Amino acid sequence: MTDESRRGFIGKAFGAFAAVGGIASLIAMKKTWDPLPSVMSAGFTTVDVSGLEENKLEIVVWRGKPIFILKYSADMTPTEGRNIKIGDHYYSVMIGLCTHLGCIPAYRTVKKDFKCACHGGEFSADGKETFGPPPRPLDIPPFNLDGETLVLGEEGEAYRALVAKA
Ligand code: FES
Repeated sequence: MTDESRRGFIGKAFGAFAAVGGIASLIAMKKTWDPLPSVMSAGFTTVDVSGLEENKLEIVVWRGKPIFILKYSADMTPTEGRNIKIGDHYYSVMIGLCTHLGCIPAYRTVKKDFKCACHGGEFSADGKETFGPPPRPLDIPPFNLDGETLVLGEEGEAYRALVAKA
């Protein structure tokens, strides 16, 4: 091997080594910039509502808050601006924290309403305050619909239409 070809080979080998090192550094840097998996998963919660039972409260956690999902039975009347239709059923989707001082109200399946044990506040099935100290209805979290899957944390068309009518 001549000196020139040896120099060329060493140059190419060094170049390839530097390129691999550079790519590895970029991948490592990107990993440090990306949010942790726990942070990413905290942003959105997906719930397949197709299997939920009528008049039975489903509670899921979204960003550390309890979210009430209530599938209406045929005898319950939906309220414009408070209920959404997914498939053939109407649902209430609300943050399950009392708007008085933040306790978690309980659902009463016979009366089809919510009762807050802390100071006696009551809410209808659609989350409107009906008795006691709560100053406003239960809040509606931002959501999106993907078929019969509810994506909590993403502001979709159905959410915007709902809050516009509230
Ligand atoms: S916290 Fe619910 S009524 Fe006071």
